[in-house]
This record gives sequence, structure tokens and C-alpha cells, in this order.
Amino acid sequence: MKPPTKTPVSDYLAHLVGQSVNAIDTPALVVDLDAMKRNLARMAEFARKHDVRWRPHAKMHKSVAIAKLQMQAGAVGVCVQKTAEAEAMVGGGVYNVYITNEVVAAWKLARVAALAHQVAAEGGQLAIAVDSVEGVGRLAQAMNDARSQTKGAAVVDVFVEIDVGQGRCGVAPGQAAVALVHEIRKHPALRFAGLQAYNGKAQHLRSPQQRREAIAIAVDDVVYTRKLIEAEGVPVVLVSGAGTGSMVCEAASGVFGELQAGSFLFMDADYAQNERDPAQPQFEHALFVKTQVISSREDHAVCDAGHKSHSIDSGLPKVHAFDAESELDYFNGGDEHGILRPAGASRRVPAIGRMLWLIPGHCDPTVNLYDFMIGVSGGLRKGKVERIIRVEARGALT
Ligand SMILES: Cc1ncc(COP(=O)(O)O)c(C=O)c1O
Repeated sequence: MKPPTKTPVSDYLAHLVGQSVNAIDTPALVVDLDAMKRNLARMAEFARKHDVRWRPHAKMHKSVAIAKLQMQAGAVGVCVQKTAEAEAMVGGGVYNVYITNEVVAAWKLARVAALAHQVAAEGGQLAIAVDSVEGVGRLAQAMNDARSQTKGAAVVDVFVEIDVGQGRCGVAPGQAAVALVHEIRKHPALRFAGLQAYNGKAQHLRSPQQRREAIAIAVDDVVYTRKLIEAEGVPVVLVSGAGTGSMVCEAASGVFGELQAGSFLFMDADYAQNERDPAQPQFEHALFVKTQVISSREDHAVCDAGHKSHSIDSGLPKVHAFDAESELDYFNGGDEHGILRPAGASRRVPAIGRMLWLIPGHCDPTVNLYDFMIGVSGGLRKGKVERIIRVEARGALT
């Protein structure tokens, strides 16, 4: 298998390191490293306090360097959604990877099995989710083929995914999960690792009470399913799930042993609309699209960041306001433009050349638009470029 081709760091990016934020050309994806590190420290502290593991979702940042920072801060590894994301992580030296998704194509499973052997050789561990007997059989076949080819004896950790309210993948809580556990245990190359119970719909329910109610149902589903599995003499050693919106509920449940939250690190504009649970750490925005005003009229200005610079599936970006005076609203200007209208007290339209910072509506698909993120320390006004962060798993969709 060939490693993914790497886009070279351009001379422009290489020379940016050490320079003022003003030198960053637009549009550009910028990480406020100070804010990111504070988010990381708050997450580590939260997990410690609640005595849960955290395996943050790397589908959000898609970057090996950030995955390593998370593991240095105490994460046990990372989650990914795609085989190709797992390959990017392993290729960069991240050896504890959980594919929280169903993989069924034989050619993909051959890659999964190869990864399982690769990480085992490095002292790591690969995990994957399943939700069908067919899927278990195909995974076992791929692992057996890889074992006979490599003469290795790697084992892949397998989580049984139960649908706890999202209506996406997963078997119904209860006997269907028990049947899958038995199926997994028939194969020596597979190890039953626990339950995957993630409710994506709960993450963006706006009030803490709504999120608590949704996750209470998930917890009941897990407890019920775990009881049935354990009644058959099989321990359920780990329940993994949770996103940034609901993680306080899973952490407090006493049932979930591992948190998969990903967005907490960058915090997009959509997540900022959730009413914060008092138990939730105060995560800050750390991901911005730097943009510049290219046209200015009496009532509006136009910037150089449109839909090709940020995803809009969760709404348009917010303009970061350094003070109430400079508040601006962002309106759809198409692929390459954003329209800005004053929202603050001053009613001042920004002048041509003015640099602005957008908070993307949704961080994951926004990151996926860029080969590199520019890491800044010392703040967005007076800071300096500290490092260039490669997005190795950009476009890693297979
Ligand atoms: C299976 C799974 N776990 C965890 C997450 C992380 O959620 P968030 O980025 O909202 O924290 C996601 C996100 O979609 C997910 O699909």
C-alpha cells in the first residue's frame, strides 16, 4: 500500500513561521493555538475529574500533529470515521485508533486488517465498530487473510454499535447486540471490546435539559443491553460514545467509560449556540477563517471568503468581534464572497483591506477544505505564526 501523497509546504507557508498574523494571506484556516491548548487542558481536567478515558474524534481536525498533542494531554488514542483517516493517523505514528464506523467492503477490510497488524507491530491497537453478522463475518475473513499472509497474529478490537436514538448505524439495543457479541467471539482474530453508543442528534439540542433527556434514554439502552450480554457470562469492559454537546451527561452516567468528543478542541459557531450545561467546561473558539475586505460600499462590505472557504451545512459563519462596536453579520455572497453588514453600535462598514476572522458554522467539513492550518500564538490581533499544521487526512473519505 502506498502512503498518501503529501502536498509540500510551499515557500510562502514556510516563510510565514515567526511572522505577524498580519502576514497571513486570505482566505486562510487559522488555529488560535493558545485557545486550542486551553480547550485541551479543560478536556483533560474534565476527564480526570470524571474518571473517564477520552479518545477524541480526529475526523474533526484530521491532523497527526494535533492527535499527538491530544495524546500528550492524556487522550488514550483517537477515533476516526474512515479507513483512510485511520491510515493517515497510523502513517504519522498514531497507533491507538478506533474506527467508530461500519466498514464492509472487502478491499477496505483488507486495509483495516493490514492496519491492525501494523499498529500491533508498533505496540498499538486498532478498534472498529460493527452492527451486523455479515459485517463481523467479512471483518473476520479479512483478518484471517492478513494473518495467513503476514504470519502475524494481530487482534482487532470490535465494538458492537447500538442505536441509542440517532437512527443511523447500530443494532437495536437488546438481544440483537447479544447475538453480535456471540458472533464476534467465534473468531480468534476479533476481540469483543464493548459497546459503541453515540447519539449525534443529541449533540445540538439547544438546552441542557433536552440533551440530558436524550442521553438518559441512551444510558437506559446501554444498561439494558449490557445486562443481557453480561447475563451470558461476557463482560462489557467499555462503553464508548459522546460528542461535545452531550459529554457531561455520558461522563456523569457512570456507564460510559470513554468520551469521543471532537469539536470541543475548535468549537464552531453552531456549537456556540448550545446553551452551556453548567457542568461543561467553557470551551473557546479556536478555529478561524482569516478573510479580507475586498469591496466596501455605504451599507455593506464584501470579503474574500465564501462557501469554498468554509462549510455551510450548519449555518453561515459568525464574524469574530473584538468589541461590540465592530460587530458584523455575515451573509451569503456565493462561492468566493461573503457579504458583511454592520450589526454593532457604530454601524461602521469595514474599509477595503480590513482583515476579519470568521468562526465557521461547522469545524469538521471546514477543516476538510484545507491542506494546512496556520497555527498562531499570542492572539489574533498581535500574535505570530508559530507553526504550520498539516491536515493529513484531508479528503480521506474511503
Ligand atoms: C461516532 C461519533 N463519535 C463522536 C463524534 C464527535 O462529536 P463532536 O465533534 O460533535 O464532539 C462524532 C461526530 O459526528 C461521531 O460521529
